[in-house]
Amino acid sequence: MRDPAPTTIYLKDYSPFGYIVDSVHLTFDLAPHATRVTSRIAFRPNPQATDRTFFLHGEELNLIRASIDGTPITPEVTDKGLTANVPDAPFVWEAEVEIDPGNNTALEGLYMSNGMYCTQCEAEGFRKITFYPDRPDVMSTFTVRINGDLPVLLSNGNPTGTGEGWAEWTDPWPKPAYLFALVAGELVAYSDSFTTRSGRHVDLNLWVRPGDEGKCAFGMEALKRSMKWDEDVYGREYDLDVFNIVAVDDFNMGAMENKGLNIFNSSAVLASPETSTDANFERIEAIIAHEYFHNWTGNRITCRDWFQLCLKEGLTVFRDAQFTSDMRSAPVKRIHDVIDLRARQFPEDNGPLSHPVRPESFQEINNFYTATVYEKGAEVIGMLKTLVGDEAYSKALDLYFERHDGQACTIEDWLKVFEDTTGRDLTQFKRWYSQSGTPRVKVQEDWADGTYTLTLSQSTPPTPGQPEKLPQVIPVAVGLLGPNGDEVRGTEVLELTEARQSFTFEGLAARPVASILRGFSAPVILEHDRPNAERAFLLAHDTDPFNRWEAGRTLAQDTLLRMITQDAAPDAEYLDGLLAVLRDADLDPAYRALMLGLPTQSELAAALHEQGETPDPMAIWRAVETLRQATAQHMQDLLPRLHSEALVDGPYSPDADQAGKRALGSAALALTTRLDGGAMAAEVYAKADNMTLQLSALSCLPRAGKGQAELAAFYDQWRHDRLVLDKWFGLQASLAAPDDAPRIARALCEHPDFNWKNPNRFRALMGGLAMNHAGFHHASGASYALLADWLIRLDPVNPQTTARMCTAFQTWKRYDADRQDLIRAQLTRIAETPNLSRDTTEMISRILGA
Ligand code: PHE
Ligand code: ZN
Repeated sequence: MRDPAPTTIYLKDYSPFGYIVDSVHLTFDLAPHATRVTSRIAFRPNPQATDRTFFLHGEELNLIRASIDGTPITPEVTDKGLTANVPDAPFVWEAEVEIDPGNNTALEGLYMSNGMYCTQCEAEGFRKITFYPDRPDVMSTFTVRINGDLPVLLSNGNPTGTGEGWAEWTDPWPKPAYLFALVAGELVAYSDSFTTRSGRHVDLNLWVRPGDEGKCAFGMEALKRSMKWDEDVYGREYDLDVFNIVAVDDFNMGAMENKGLNIFNSSAVLASPETSTDANFERIEAIIAHEYFHNWTGNRITCRDWFQLCLKEGLTVFRDAQFTSDMRSAPVKRIHDVIDLRARQFPEDNGPLSHPVRPESFQEINNFYTATVYEKGAEVIGMLKTLVGDEAYSKALDLYFERHDGQACTIEDWLKVFEDTTGRDLTQFKRWYSQSGTPRVKVQEDWADGTYTLTLSQSTPPTPGQPEKLPQVIPVAVGLLGPNGDEVRGTEVLELTEARQSFTFEGLAARPVASILRGFSAPVILEHDRPNAERAFLLAHDTDPFNRWEAGRTLAQDTLLRMITQDAAPDAEYLDGLLAVLRDADLDPAYRALMLGLPTQSELAAALHEQGETPDPMAIWRAVETLRQATAQHMQDLLPRLHSEALVDGPYSPDADQAGKRALGSAALALTTRLDGGAMAAEVYAKADNMTLQLSALSCLPRAGKGQAELAAFYDQWRHDRLVLDKWFGLQASLAAPDDAPRIARALCEHPDFNWKNPNRFRALMGGLAMNHAGFHHASGASYALLADWLIRLDPVNPQTTARMCTAFQTWKRYDADRQDLIRAQLTRIAETPNLSRDTTEMISRILGA
């Protein structure tokens, strides 16, 4: 084992570094297998610190020389870093190290991708570039000189000098090392500019490989919209003369907010109508905004330590969601986010990997870039805003920026600005940051003499390390509808703070139908036994668009569960209610398309498990198929009209309006395929002139037992476009019929284009298989074994992506004993692999519950 006794880091052990860094000068002499990095760092003792140990992180570095104030020294070096004796006064540290970016397949530190040098330092990658106090509370200005015979040499900040074979960059804003970046390569720029509201001219460049220039326009527009939006809504201006974005093909995550030099996974920035779907465009717009917004929430104000990750990530996700709501449709964005939360965060929070939004310990911080930290972290901010109101929220944010600019902060600092602006005590609210698990809120209703009483009880099941839970502050937005569907009480936010609490509504003429948790005002599971007739009533009448959608969702879930457990027939109330909504041409097509969605098969498995049943993946799959077929038949007459409503005139645009129409058209096409065996889908496929239509038509076909010719044609058409090829791999793995899935996935692994060292390609195939619920849980265990084989193979090459993909197994305890045995055997096999990385070791042992 590389790490025989993995060490656990605790939040409670925080102490500041013994030295302050006043400036950093770095010189890079680039060479693929022998890059020299020379550092000159000005340190001085930190009066705030008690421990003066001079320890600099450093991993996989070859130390050539080191000196203090010009005197050569021989520090004590281990595989984690070095220690040295230093003066009790300001001093200058100099060191020269050699590194091997050409052999860096982990994609952390300085590495190479298609001949281009690129860095990734968050969270702890800078220590693979040079010796340094690699922790976010150590902030400094950086000056970087790059020597290399490549045409484009980039780093953070402003360009301060350039010549033949070199460039110098100076970043005037103190920053932690995790925001350092360097890029060097044969790149071309797609350029534009932006003038900030105070008149600063900013050069904007999107750097891509030659050939990708045609995929930049949308990203650039999204960037300009983001810059304007952050000025208008948060009063935040950009603070350098240039903003560079680089697209790179080999990248573990979506993108990275390095100061003035954002680095993007090419899938998160490159877009064209021919190669990208509407969903890709929307995601790209959101990620560009997200990384740009980090300039203030993350960079100007950063995190004291990695336990505070949600301070920057939760807030920045919240901000990018606000941006998307403003650019597109707010209800549609909210529904998308809740779908995503339930698909990714709920399983995490209700399984062995459950952890608080602010974790209290970790072995490998890379394993905590999770849906809980990001998405639940954003939900917590949304609740805070709901509780204090919009005006107080915006005052608190102003105070946050004013008080903490240039600092490395904690969740305590964040909550304090809200307490100081509102006078509210947030002690109980803070439990959202420390308690893990998804709270359940049980609803009980009473009606007597014109008074409606709503009794809400909350409880959170035990989670790893947290057997007992205390009540949390849960904002529950409620509205009441009268018997004719009119709203008799508009939305009101109830504050549930006790384990059980009643709220009364007096003076009502008739028993109301309550619309509870409007807008999904808290990330909880609502347990509300109510007649389907009430759900159908809300589906027809709720004035809250989220809850109207939710009513359809609960009806769908209820009918599916009864089909699975009681062999019931598809519920007429669901089918009729759905038909009525889909007929309503006044409703936004995007919204109607969402209405046609169903809970995922994995969510149904979770719901069955919650009811004390053992989910059978094949039974779930069959129920979904049956309901789909019944829906198609029930809507038979409407489908042609839905197709025509979804017709888009004029040239393709990725805007919300057109995208919504295409989403409705695609949903209708999928239903039509169940009636015509794929004839119409094949026709749409043949005529499609954009990727959205092409891919949605192609996705219909495998289920109809067709599409072999189209899949082959698709491959021939797109084999030279790596991002489109990812879709080709992903689609086949995720849509294969359950019985064929292991075989199809295995065959795809043999395909010459399965470049498994590329994280996008690996995720497309293995992630696609994991998403194919019944195929992944194939009773033979063949899919489990296939994934485990590949995790074992990828681990030494890229521990981060391996560890992330282990989450495919996190729900294993829901299933039957045979499947649990099969999965346990695979998890054990992975755990026993010699030299398994710290990342994967931690994930597997948590999943096993060890
Ligand atoms: N900080 C990045 C973001 O949220 C994510 C990231 C983390 C990227 C770690 C790379 C490595 O935008
Ligand atoms: Zn982020």
